[in-house]
Amino acid sequence: MKNLPPLVIAIDGPAGAGKSTTAREVASRLGLLWVDTGAMYRAVTLWLLRHGIAPVAGEAIEEALGTLTVDLVPGESTLRVLLCGEDVSQRIRDDDVTGLVSQVSSLRQVRHALVRWQRRIAERGNVVMEGRDIGTVVCPDAPIKIFLEASLATRARRRARERSRHADGLDERQILRELARRDTADSTREVAPMAAATDAVRLDTTNLSITGQVDAVVRLVRERGYVSS
Ligand code: DC
Repeated sequence: MKNLPPLVIAIDGPAGAGKSTTAREVASRLGLLWVDTGAMYRAVTLWLLRHGIAPVAGEAIEEALGTLTVDLVPGESTLRVLLCGEDVSQRIRDDDVTGLVSQVSSLRQVRHALVRWQRRIAERGNVVMEGRDIGTVVCPDAPIKIFLEASLATRARRRARERSRHADGLDERQILRELARRDTADSTREVAPMAAATDAVRLDTTNLSITGQVDAVVRLVRERGYVSS
């Protein structure tokens, strides 16, 4: 058997493309750790919101990043997000956090700190890490890189369906506008913009079922020699 580098599956792509669902299911099927880096940026955003620190680069943010902790704890089918030990898994999905997270994640200091945390996790291997810059910046040597895409309308429809469970009244058009705004902010920022790595496999999930997209990733992992078929 070939001497393979540690298994890191990097999954990048815009919101609503199916990253979390795919990452969670691939991790579950292959017995890997699932790391949602967007949740980490959201937790830091929540901390800054709670402490009234405006999202501008500065000493206050530098200090905060030195003290706060964000832990991802795998549950049955979810990932619990702990901010300084407090479970904020639901709270980080609220509109105030979603509205600010692109701005916070565009800050150089924030990215440096989080990329350092993420690399420490990825070094151990056996991980599926999802985000916007995993294949390009966090783990440029990842042996498997996927860039998930889907049409904006499909992504908005998926989000609206998820949100209807929470009955927060946001309609599909509002969600579509919010996704488009975030896409632009995330892909045009100066530091580590969302992008597909040149060696990433692009997977359009517009017409794929969840099983279809998970199968496609697992197939790729096998083709690269990681698990017996
Ligand atoms: O995946 P998500 O929608 O929960 O991510 C929230 C925000 O975090 C997203 O708008 C961009 C940012 N993000 C990032 O800049 N880099 C990552 N690796 C992951 C997320």
